[in-house]
Amino acid sequence: MDYDFTTTPDRRATGSVKWNRYAHRDVLPMWIADMDFLSPPEVIAALEQRVRHGVFGYTVPPESTWEAAVTYLWEHHGAEVVAEQIVWFPGLVPSLNVACRAFLQPGEEVLTCTPVYPPFLSASENAGVGLRTCNLRENHGVWDIDFEALEAAVGPKTKLFLLCNPHNPVGKVFPEAVMERLAEFCRHHDLVLVSDEIHCDLVLDDVRHTSGLKFADTMGMRMLALFAPSKTFNLAGLGCSFIVIPDEATRHAFQRAARGIISPINAFGYAGCEAALRLGWPWRDRLLDVLRSNRNRVAEAVASLPGLRTWHVEATYLTWIDATGLGIPNAAAFFEEYGVGLSDGVPFGAPSGFLRLNFGCPRAQLDEALRRMEKAVTCR
Ligand SMILES: Cc1ncc(COP(=O)(O)O)c(C=O)c1O
Repeated sequence: MDYDFTTTPDRRATGSVKWNRYAHRDVLPMWIADMDFLSPPEVIAALEQRVRHGVFGYTVPPESTWEAAVTYLWEHHGAEVVAEQIVWFPGLVPSLNVACRAFLQPGEEVLTCTPVYPPFLSASENAGVGLRTCNLRENHGVWDIDFEALEAAVGPKTKLFLLCNPHNPVGKVFPEAVMERLAEFCRHHDLVLVSDEIHCDLVLDDVRHTSGLKFADTMGMRMLALFAPSKTFNLAGLGCSFIVIPDEATRHAFQRAARGIISPINAFGYAGCEAALRLGWPWRDRLLDVLRSNRNRVAEAVASLPGLRTWHVEATYLTWIDATGLGIPNAAAFFEEYGVGLSDGVPFGAPSGFLRLNFGCPRAQLDEALRRMEKAVTCR
């Protein structure tokens, strides 16, 4: 099938978080992580079919959706999971927050590596527990977990490690050896590992994603792996994700903390998720070609701009940019003035001057954003 990755859909009257921010301004939204592509036609067809049924009552996960998730985990990530180990959830952000409530007591702490997707930093505060952070290490342009710094950061009250892999915002896919060491670190310090793998099907390079599930046994099973079709297939607004919690006691503790607070997923979430996991892969493969090309375009453009620096993106559709070389106090506001809406790095736990650019859009839109950024840097 021929898929369209060149038309920018008009999202302005659709309540889009991404486009509403700049509703009455000529600012291209290149910030929040959803893409300006139509979802796979196979998914749209499944949703249309569900609409035509015409009854939208309370919904449990259909058996066929469980099966699709179990098959996906095995075929794409080599994880042998049984349906009972899966908890359906309306989002990964709620699951990060529920995990902090389920596994920590007041006075205890979460540990994570920065910079990182902002809800990793707010979940502990929302739960009324503490937070310890440790910077990722950057060595000759390659990001890594700094285990010495991690050992220094962990304390006797640290009970849970939040991992983002592939990593938002630096686009790193942590290799198996790093994952193994991290699992051993968590086991040694008796930490529950929460492994957010939402970007795991957006690996752009010839590197393998290693699911945290591979180390569940090493860890005495005290781990949760978080998945969703929302990034890969551009379905974030459908609110459907699934959490794999191999250990029964850990799973029950998580479910207890969510009871009565987290509402179930709606009928469209399941229909979209199942269609994506079963039928969306040819579309995803084409998407990866488009994203690779966009990633390279961003790298080339940013490299030509004085004061900006970036890193190679192995996965995701996000580029992390160091704009400290511009020497301006608020780089995000600066580029907004020139018509490009980027994510400010400060909420990611980065110093001022870092930015995140979302290149999940048609090439013409990306080219225009990069042209505006070039103008900003050269005209200032
Ligand atoms: C690492 C990571 N986790 C979670 C989310 C959001 O998950 P959800 O929309 O399921 O809450 C994002 C969105 O950008 C993300 O990058």
